[in-house]
Amino acid sequence: MQVIEVADPAAAADLAADLIDEYSPRVLGVATGATPSPLYRVLVDRHRLAADTTVCLLDEYIGLPVGHGQRYRQIIARQLATPLGLTVVAPDVDALDLSAACGSYETALADLGGVDLQILGIGRNGHIGFNEPGTSFDSVTHVVELTSTTRADNARFFDGAASVPRHAITQGIATIRRAKRIVLIAVGDAKASAVAAMIEGSISPANPASALRDHADVVLVADREALTQRTTHRHTHSGAA
Ligand code: GLP
Repeated sequence: MQVIEVADPAAAADLAADLIDEYSPRVLGVATGATPSPLYRVLVDRHRLAADTTVCLLDEYIGLPVGHGQRYRQIIARQLATPLGLTVVAPDVDALDLSAACGSYETALADLGGVDLQILGIGRNGHIGFNEPGTSFDSVTHVVELTSTTRADNARFFDGAASVPRHAITQGIATIRRAKRIVLIAVGDAKASAVAAMIEGSISPANPASALRDHADVVLVADREALTQRTTHRHTHSGAA
């Protein structure tokens, strides 16, 4: 895992946008949450993604009405896809058969030739997508019950924790690891412990993000605050590329 330390969230967004420009992904995997929003603003401002780029969701809540402002499909449409005229591919969380919908999403990703570059954030508990601690590294797209920590963390986007959906569909860890390149962004001290565990802790399902360590092409773009609990400085590169 290549670790690039940057000064602040704005620098993280700029650097992640540079990495995307450099790679010119045809299929771009997108995460939601507060972390990647500044990156999407930069991508829209630069307007350098090819018009035929397909964006694929990492995860999506189950149970929110179509068009709800916190549906990840809506967020990605608003922040990235609509301004750039890009196609969005997402799991069908409104299907009656959610397990079939998970299988169809795996097929859709495979039919696209797989994700070229996946943007990720990280949860305070080390989750990637909605793969909570304990998720098998062999998992593919599946339905998850969200932990109370995750629901509490995401309450700021809703009218309190009670309004946060209880379930979601997420790409599994094996699905995420199939992306050819992964760019994980972590900013702020709330992520410092999860980041240290990801880059230095044991590789284990207790720590979902540790599954990325043996991927061939992962770049962690982190600000200083997110790296404060790291103890080693091996394999790191300071400053912007
Ligand atoms: C969410 C998402 C993740 C995201 C994480 C961190 O629940 N499912 O994809 O990376 O939590 O979010 P934030 O960037 O808002 O801290």
